[in-house]
Amino acid sequence: MRANLIDGKAIAESLREEVKKSVDERVAKGLPAPGLATVIIGDNPASKVYVRMKHKACQEVGILSIGHELPADTPQEEAEALVKKLNDDPKVNGILVQLPLPAGLDEERVLNTISLQKDVDGFHPVNIGRLAQKGREPLFIPCTPAGVMYLLEQGGAELQGANAVVLGRSNIVGMPVSLLLVSANATVTICHSRTKDIPGLIRQADVLVAAVGIPEYVRGDWIKPGATVIDVGVNRIEDETRKSGYRLVGDVNFDEAAEVAGAITPVPGGVGPMTIAMLLRNTLRAARLADGNDVA
Ligand code: GUN
Repeated sequence: MRANLIDGKAIAESLREEVKKSVDERVAKGLPAPGLATVIIGDNPASKVYVRMKHKACQEVGILSIGHELPADTPQEEAEALVKKLNDDPKVNGILVQLPLPAGLDEERVLNTISLQKDVDGFHPVNIGRLAQKGREPLFIPCTPAGVMYLLEQGGAELQGANAVVLGRSNIVGMPVSLLLVSANATVTICHSRTKDIPGLIRQADVLVAAVGIPEYVRGDWIKPGATVIDVGVNRIEDETRKSGYRLVGDVNFDEAAEVAGAITPVPGGVGPMTIAMLLRNTLRAARLADGNDVA
């Protein structure tokens, strides 16, 4: 392996320790512990696993977390009513509505109901809109994209004037990452299912962020020598040698890419742990905003 490994697990761990220290300091000063409310609607098993992990992480750093679960057939008004109740609850600093929502619920309307000051996921249309505009700052940056940017910084990637390719255009990862890279003065190409010659575009990329959800899609000979590769994909593939019968791989063929790239994130242990670390950071920030203290 030629590339430097960008160890998301270790980087996230040190961020979590920083958050814990700040939370401890708040509480020692007599300020309330930050509070995060999570909302799951429906029975998506992956959502339940992710939200459980978020609660555990909150507990570890001293953030109060309160879970709400609603059935899949919850009417729109009821979903919005719960969010409004959480907006008015002073113990709740951050509100996280786990996505995707069940079919039949209007995601944009639910997210639009979240108070801007409590939008720790950064998915409120106003926060996303600000991300897309020059000279405007969102109050919160979505957690996975913020984690990607942090890893790029830690991996020593020069973004100014760099050619960056983002694979995928989802609301949760691809599009906000692309906007953040533009803000960092990279020249960004967004690739998606209709893009022609994806390998050719990736070959010119100094920075590659892969978020398409296709196991080991990006091959080693697509990577520009020395490029920084951030792999957001988490895909299960069959592996009979494992007790579980599967293993996790990213959207990039790691073994091949690691021979060519300058720096690369592993899967697991790359972007995944960063998402939760950024959520904890955003929740701490929301608590500071509620104190009237806008410190990033
Ligand atoms: N679904 C997948 N990733 C996320 C995330 O970061 N936040 C929320 N709310 N839902 C998600």
